[in-house]
Amino acid sequence: MEEVEEIDGFGIEDLPGVGPATAEKLKEAGFNSVEAVAVASPSELSNAADLGEATASKIIIAARQAADIGGFETGDVILERRRHVGKLTTGSKAFDELLGGGVETQAITELYGEFGSGKTQVAHQLAVNVQLARESGGLDGSCILIDTENTFRPERISQIAAGLDLDLDGVLRNIHVARAHNSNHQILLVEAASELSEQLKATERPVRLLIVDSLTAHFRAEYVGRGTLADRQQKLNKHLHDLMRFGTLNNAVVLVTNQVQSKPDAFFGDPTRPIGGHILGHTATFRLYLRKSKGGKRIARLVDSPNLAEGEAIFSVESEGIRD
Ligand code: GTP
Ligand code: MG
Repeated sequence: MEEVEEIDGFGIEDLPGVGPATAEKLKEAGFNSVEAVAVASPSELSNAADLGEATASKIIIAARQAADIGGFETGDVILERRRHVGKLTTGSKAFDELLGGGVETQAITELYGEFGSGKTQVAHQLAVNVQLARESGGLDGSCILIDTENTFRPERISQIAAGLDLDLDGVLRNIHVARAHNSNHQILLVEAASELSEQLKATERPVRLLIVDSLTAHFRAEYVGRGTLADRQQKLNKHLHDLMRFGTLNNAVVLVTNQVQSKPDAFFGDPTRPIGGHILGHTATFRLYLRKSKGGKRIARLVDSPNLAEGEAIFSVESEGIRD
């Protein structure tokens, strides 16, 4: 598979209207490449670099021309980009089949479910699997993990790596972990992730997986009460937008986890619903509902996806990782 297009030797400082000081500010705000500027909105860019909106618009137009990103794309161009979509194995055949071959790059995949349903376990497994060769279901890449609940365990990675006969030290070196202390910090870490992935882009270990575990815990804790709901959704929406951009620009899998909260007024179906409500529902490209089943088994239900049938898969969490 080829890399997502890069413009050789052409950086944001080469765009008309971007001097060294502006370039510095843009980079600090996470706009590390011409492509990132090209897909920004004028207000995002003007906030990031203290520019007037008119100047920001001009820079964006120049970046779009340089990056060959227009307002509309024809179907064949989209098909061409879709050709680069990679699929990452979960470790379970049934789970992969549910996803049409594995977890897709250039998309956000949301795992939601109650505590202990296996969200963090799947995240650990993917952090290792992404390092596998493509023939083995991996993406020859590295992983960035934004850990909001301090649930990353290198010891668990060690078991999973052993289950795949991989060298543990090597595997751990390709997992870049940052703790997010609150929701604002979490949002900022996506910018830091973009910088890191820009650095790793030309290496043999480009970032092909970004995990946010948990996407919603900080938001849930910080925004309590009805009055703050709109605020929370707006922030979450921006965050998801940033994540989606990361996935597209890096041809990476974006995996987010989400707890469920009880919904006592639900009389039909499962009396739980994911935090974040419908905004998250429309942004996450693949939504998977995980639940515990008998004998340590887990059930993954594909809740909605643009091009796959709804369905379920049964998998298990074993000491060596996710298996059928
Ligand atoms: P919250 O983050 O609390 O919402 O839950 P989660 O969905 O992230 O759950 P998590 O992935 O942490 O699942 C924990 C469960 O995975 C445990 O209750 C075990 O059933 C299983 N598990 C974790 N580690 C191991 C292991 O080493 N061996 C086996 N067999 N199971 C494990
Ligand atoms: Mg967890």
